[in-house]
Amino acid sequence: MTILVTGGAGYIGSHTTLELLKAGHEVIVVDNLSNAKPESLKRVSELAGRAPVFHQVDILDRPALDKVFAAHRVDAVIHFAAFKAVGESVAEPLKYYKNNITGTIVLCEAMKAAGVKNLVFSSSATVYGENPNPPFDESQPTSATNPYGWTKVMMEQIFRDICVAQKDWNVVLLRYFNPVGAHESGRIGEDPTGVPANLLPFVSQVAVGMRPQVKVFGNDYPTPDGTGLRDYIHVVDLAIGHLKAVEKLTAKPGLVVYNLGTGNPSSVLDVIRAFEKASGMKVPFEIVARRPGDVAASYANPAKAQAELGWKAVRGLDQMCADAWKWQSANPKGFL
Ligand code: NAD
Ligand code: UD1
Repeated sequence: MTILVTGGAGYIGSHTTLELLKAGHEVIVVDNLSNAKPESLKRVSELAGRAPVFHQVDILDRPALDKVFAAHRVDAVIHFAAFKAVGESVAEPLKYYKNNITGTIVLCEAMKAAGVKNLVFSSSATVYGENPNPPFDESQPTSATNPYGWTKVMMEQIFRDICVAQKDWNVVLLRYFNPVGAHESGRIGEDPTGVPANLLPFVSQVAVGMRPQVKVFGNDYPTPDGTGLRDYIHVVDLAIGHLKAVEKLTAKPGLVVYNLGTGNPSSVLDVIRAFEKASGMKVPFEIVARRPGDVAASYANPAKAQAELGWKAVRGLDQMCADAWKWQSANPKGFL
């Protein structure tokens, strides 16, 4: 297939581009490099032994998108391009609504004009909002607690409406739990700008000596060790989930939703211990107050993706930490 990947130079996009190339697909990457460096695609090409086509284009730029669609016969789109920082979305909601929602609408208009009807969308477990009863399955109600989360809830609705109006469109919404880790080569990985807000990149930077200690946000949750439980998923398992989803897009016409998670939650202290084991480094931490907006526990019921896509996450927490460490220690400053 010829697959157009928006945001394909970013963290999850680069790992997915690699798996698509390895599986023999042609890949067209569209990315404006607002949160990525060209080096990531250079390394993807090295690992795959061949390169994706790259267009440095903003998805808000309809004429530029039209040119990309005119230049290639695209079978399907995998749509990663978005802003994703929760805190920033609270401070600058319009920036998030414009990029994530308007960007998606412009992309869909360009697809419609080009006659492209197949799309895989990056949604998030954040759409389960403050639902207190994990494991979450796809039929549970959705909501959000911040503008970033609302962009995902709203875009899911937009795709639902498109599929009602356009019976020949096929859309898969993938709700990722907590993507972590890196390709086993250590050549590509997550390259956050500034202070990482998410646990795993923060722990990696403490282990490599860039930061003194991890702040554990609360140990009084109703969980086995009192710290928050999350469903961490290896980014390569996640990338393979996209490969399966795009290859099966037309098997189930219309709109389909899948959780991509392991179903096995880990606590903050589990992650710190696993990272110390994987890296051989000490990860000092202190317990501080809860982070506003955090839920005690969030993890997937991943059964639907297994039954319908034949996909299951196979990499455990130890491998996630080992691969994150390999990437972090070989690239302490990320992609230069
Ligand atoms: P990322 O920031 O590494 O990748 C996003 C890419 O999109 C970047 O390369 C950026 O340059 C590009 N981009 C952003 N706006 C663009 C625009 N207007 N035009 C063209 N390119 C644009 O983030 P990621 O972690 O790889 O996330 C990918 C997707 O998965 C996002 O939609 C994100 O919301 C979603 N998601 C991520 C997580 C996570 O924890 N990383 C969890 C759930 C869902
Ligand atoms: C965050 C986002 C969520 C997004 C998800 C996956 C927030 C409020 N939510 O959720 O929208 O979908 O990432 O990208 O940012 N923790 C610490 N110390 C730290 C960082 C985190 O103790 O320095 C704890 C948190 O309290 C939580 C766990 O580690 O219990 C995981 O945190 P994080 O990696 O930020 O992911 P989420 O909270 O799931």
